[in-house]
Amino acid sequence: MSPLHVVILAAGQGSRMKSALPKVLHPVAGKPMLHHVVETAKQLGAEKIHTVIGHGAEQVQASLQDESVNWVMQTEQLGTGHAVAQALPDLPDDARVLVLYGDVPLTAKNTLEAMIADLDESNLALLTVDMDNPHGYGRIVRNAAGQVQAIVEQKDASAEQQAIHEVNTGILAVCAKHLKNWLPTLSNSNAQGEYYLTDIIAMSVGHRLSVTVSQPLNPFEVQGVNNRLQLAELERWYQRQQAERLMTDGASLADPARLDVRGELSIGNDLWIDVNVVFEGKVNLGSNVTIGPGCVIKDTTIADGAAIKAHSVVEGTIVGANAQIGPFARLRPGTELAANTKVGNFVETKKAVVGEGSKINHLSYVGDTSMGRNVNVGAGTITCNYDGVNKHQTVMGDGVFVGSNTALVAPVTLGEDATIGAGSTITRDVADKELAIARGKQRNIDGWERPKKT
Ligand code: UD1
Ligand code: CA
Repeated sequence: MSPLHVVILAAGQGSRMKSALPKVLHPVAGKPMLHHVVETAKQLGAEKIHTVIGHGAEQVQASLQDESVNWVMQTEQLGTGHAVAQALPDLPDDARVLVLYGDVPLTAKNTLEAMIADLDESNLALLTVDMDNPHGYGRIVRNAAGQVQAIVEQKDASAEQQAIHEVNTGILAVCAKHLKNWLPTLSNSNAQGEYYLTDIIAMSVGHRLSVTVSQPLNPFEVQGVNNRLQLAELERWYQRQQAERLMTDGASLADPARLDVRGELSIGNDLWIDVNVVFEGKVNLGSNVTIGPGCVIKDTTIADGAAIKAHSVVEGTIVGANAQIGPFARLRPGTELAANTKVGNFVETKKAVVGEGSKINHLSYVGDTSMGRNVNVGAGTITCNYDGVNKHQTVMGDGVFVGSNTALVAPVTLGEDATIGAGSTITRDVADKELAIARGKQRNIDGWERPKKT
């Protein structure tokens, strides 16, 4: 089969976004709209993805370093036909060409696959949709036999044509050979003075090609974004789909409308996810995991049976089976918690490897630390890992007990079963089974009289 080339139109300004950010870089599910489209194009097996840019070209290019993307400059936006024409020199004659839009981010791969399934030199594939209110869109004009004859833009349409509810999504596919013949002949004598891509429909009919029409399963798939309201609508639709998938896959959601997935989330069975949880990046949740309300989980793997309690922020972390985290815990990148560990409220960890059964239950900072099994870190323990220039390691053997309000000045090593008295500032290593106390000695003064007001 002839190679598939995708042309993505992304040169427009998007003035209704009222934004310094080019429209196609506004995110849906945490990812720029254009990146969604590029990913879909790749999933279709596109040999090359030609992205036509103009407004904010530098910013758009900088957002996406990708070998398979060829940037095509359109310095003046003279219409969709003109935009595709800019890519012609880069399209091989034998290519099939699919035209997509940088501001139409959520078209399903299946929809496009079905659309181009039977594409060859004898036809043009068009994606249309029926709309209750078709105002503003190009209308699909058919003859008495139901064959597509042309697309007429809103501003050029007769009253009769304006009554048509089948509209052009903009997405079409045709062989490069035809585009190379037709696009140079486009005229801009129309109501908008633009070179319309849509004029090639009538041309293809004139050249005895058939127009193959298909439609998406859901109209949101072809919804373009012109303003922030439409952006939010698409985001909600996307998130609803994520929620439905999670429920189908075995997660109970307290409220499917109060969950955001911005990345890839894979899950086991029998999960419970409370309200207002945000997942970012690559997250892997085992079976019987529970996530409390208000948690943010990013680039993290959580094993079976673990519980992340309310308002915890977990990033770049591996959480072992049956671990208990939070409420109000902050686990930062490089945290690795073994099975049956506990990290309680107001605890921050970073690059901390915590052995099985160990506990850091309250008000602590544990960074650049490796900890054995069954360690108990008392409330208010701080690993002083930073000397103002360099970071240093704290090492704790199995069975260490750290009393509350202890400062562990790194680098420092606490041997197996070492005990640290509460309130200590530990600056030297402690050997296995030793007790270390490093705090001011208590003096009790008998008969002490408090100062009196003079
Ligand atoms: C276009 C279609 C219309 C269809 C509608 C669906 C044409 C002539 N009309 O109309 O039939 O119903 O989309 O939304 O194609 N762009 C460029 N360079 C240009 C012009 C446009 O990159 O010179 C990009 C824009 O950034 C935008 C997209 O192409 O993302 C569509 O352009 P726009 O002018 O919005 O077309 P519509 O008038 O909406
Ligand atoms: Ca538009």
